[in-house]
Amino acid sequence: MQKIYLSEDEIPRQWYNLAVDLPGTVNPPLGQDGQPISPDMLAAVFPMNLIEQEVTTERWVDIPDGVLDLLYRWRPSPLHRAVHLEKALDTPAKIFYKNESVSPAGSHKPNTAVAQAWYNKEFGIKRLTTETGAGQWGSALSYACGMLGLECKVFMVRVSFDQKPFRKVLMQTWGGNCVASPSTETAVGREILEQMPDTPGSLGIAISEAIEQAVGDETGQTRYSLGSVLNHVMLHQTIIGLEAKKQLEKAGIKKVDTVIGCAGGGSNFAGLAFPFAYDKINGDNIEIIPVEPASCPTLTMTDFSYDHGDVAKMTPMLPMHSLGHKFIPAPIHAGGLRYHGMAPLVSHAVEAGLMTPMALKQLECYEAAMMFSRTEGLIVAPETSHAVAATIRKALEAKEEGKEKVIIFNLSGHGLMDLNGYEKFLAGELQNIALSAQDVEESRKISLEGHPIPKI
Ligand SMILES: Cc1ncc(COP(=O)(O)O)c(C=O)c1O
Repeated sequence: MQKIYLSEDEIPRQWYNLAVDLPGTVNPPLGQDGQPISPDMLAAVFPMNLIEQEVTTERWVDIPDGVLDLLYRWRPSPLHRAVHLEKALDTPAKIFYKNESVSPAGSHKPNTAVAQAWYNKEFGIKRLTTETGAGQWGSALSYACGMLGLECKVFMVRVSFDQKPFRKVLMQTWGGNCVASPSTETAVGREILEQMPDTPGSLGIAISEAIEQAVGDETGQTRYSLGSVLNHVMLHQTIIGLEAKKQLEKAGIKKVDTVIGCAGGGSNFAGLAFPFAYDKINGDNIEIIPVEPASCPTLTMTDFSYDHGDVAKMTPMLPMHSLGHKFIPAPIHAGGLRYHGMAPLVSHAVEAGLMTPMALKQLECYEAAMMFSRTEGLIVAPETSHAVAATIRKALEAKEEGKEKVIIFNLSGHGLMDLNGYEKFLAGELQNIALSAQDVEESRKISLEGHPIPKI
């Protein structure tokens, strides 16, 4: 069996909220005064129905029919057994991957984009602003807004804007409007351009620009939408893991040993992993691995801290592993993994020992992606290549141990819009970039001085 499908009527009808089951205390976001913020303090940025979801204490949250209707356009997504990769590795491990590249925009991002656009429309919002790194999220939100008749404005991190020109065309085709960030359209962007005219940009800068535009609309009809990090985004993505569990059951798999996802802000990883974390909390022995780039080692090299989500400190302080909100990551090709922080729920789960992060360098990831394209045939996104490389490591470990382990990873997106990274790799022009402990310490010192420390 190479693929396991679910029919539309087998789609999960509720999302799973890990916050309810995490051991310890979940730390609240803090305002400028260091006090927990109240939901109404976010009202200028997000619609109240999503704010309610952000702080919900329900374990299971119903997926509205309107959102299901949008998800049916490509979901349930297939689960594949990577038989060809297994053979090439000569491993006794059974490798599965959840294929999120089948969505219209080519990644997991539309899972939350359609939900967020739908809730905003329900609330009477006409226009959404957002940031995008690799362009996947901007495409996904442009698509979702296009389907629902909302306007969409995307601030795309400069380095990706230059590396991936077709992403902009994709956004425009769905009706979105995309500009390079930092831009001259916002006060934050203009200030940064004055100080650093050649900056490659960062997600932290692009988020500041998008929030500034949303809260600056005096008609009150614009809100901001975030593609990762926040609790409600993790929630929407859990459909991935919930479907995968049903599919594994269909494939006769009784026990999963290892769950793997690449982690930028944490959403595709959380989407696959949180439903398995539920099993782990309830006694199953599962290794759960978020994989990040060594050039942006948020989980593996930083302590749990309070920090802002953006460079201009427009967001509240979130409890997360962070390299510091002023950190500007190296221009690696996995643009979606260039974020200084990590989702509070993923950070908390790592602190609680539920998950064991791994950091990998760019070349190993591209080598793994090459092996995957020449065995399974799919060309994965540079972000996803981190999950592929970690999977190969684990499958080879199983071979050494002679154990028939079950490994599942999230194929978060295809790389057909990211071919210039592959081109550079094939030409031998890519290098490994890794931060040293000293780099990390210096970066955190600049951004985090005086911030409170969360405790779980
Ligand atoms: C294909 C793909 N995978 C992974 C990511 C990382 O984001 P997250 O950690 O929120 O899943 C991105 C972000 O743009 C992406 O495009």
